[in-house]
Amino acid sequence: AKLNTLAKAASKLYFGTATDNPELTDTGYTAILDDNTQFGQITPANSMKWDAIEPEQGVFTFTEGDQIADLAMTNAMLLRGHNCVWYNQLPSWVSDGTFTVAQLTSVIQNHCSTLVGHYKGQVYAWDVVNEPFNDDGTWRTDVFFNTLGTSYPQIALEAASQADPNAKLYINEYNIEFAGPKATALLSLVESLKSAGVPLDGVGFQCHFIVGEVSGSGLQTQLSTFAAQGVEVALTELDIRMTLPETPALLAQQKTDYNSVITACMSVESCVGITVWDWTDKYSWVPSTFSGQGAACPWDENFVKKPAFDGIAAAL
Ligand code: XIL
Repeated sequence: AKLNTLAKAASKLYFGTATDNPELTDTGYTAILDDNTQFGQITPANSMKWDAIEPEQGVFTFTEGDQIADLAMTNAMLLRGHNCVWYNQLPSWVSDGTFTVAQLTSVIQNHCSTLVGHYKGQVYAWDVVNEPFNDDGTWRTDVFFNTLGTSYPQIALEAASQADPNAKLYINEYNIEFAGPKATALLSLVESLKSAGVPLDGVGFQCHFIVGEVSGSGLQTQLSTFAAQGVEVALTELDIRMTLPETPALLAQQKTDYNSVITACMSVESCVGITVWDWTDKYSWVPSTFSGQGAACPWDENFVKKPAFDGIAAAL
């Protein structure tokens, strides 16, 4: 069974994965990645972020982003652009907070329109705004909010829309996969942007989960609730980590958890696709970010399929 083939047969647009430039020199890795019956979509894990694309004001470096975009084209895979505006991996020339309202507005407009315009026609969907909220539902007090208040998503979305009118424009967030203050805050932002006619097409559910702490039915409810606002939804960064070492019991629970997450997307018509945040434990971001945790992906670090793979396939 191949995951993208199964997803498309079940009328989803894609099953995909994150990837990153340094991994592409690993021929064992690319031998599996390059199969578009397995992965019909890729997302660059780092090379389209602000620090990679515009490290100095007005200096744009697309080489590594282009490598991922070219790979998507060569392999006939959809491409998700990630991302335009985010507090993290943001160069200090932006984050140091010395811009006026007018200046930061034009900095955002120039960044978003140059980035999205460069890849015009090549990107299925852009994460235009990434992680705007704190877990308690307040706005993240980054340079964008501190300078521009609640208006910055609209500024970014409008610039992106003008640069590529055919790309789906998303807000991407985590800890909205269950009911709570953060999901409520994002839902009300989506409502207000839609009613103001701002170009917003989708909401991305990152889905960085923990084995044994996954509620598929809770996720399905949230996907439906957001879709009812007239947006599509997608699982954009799925992984399910565990406290190491991995055990047969943890791997079995992980299979169950992957199955219930995929089932949630399959049960919601507006859920267009699923992206794992890399398919192999060899290149997962988890161990370096969450101390003592890992083994979050459906393939192990030797590129052998884990029980999680079968959990995914069975749900598609
Ligand atoms: C991660 C990358 O995978 C890492 O390589 C990098 O060091 C940090 O960022 N949410 C996001 C992604 O939206 O951009 C993050 O990606 C993971 C969390």
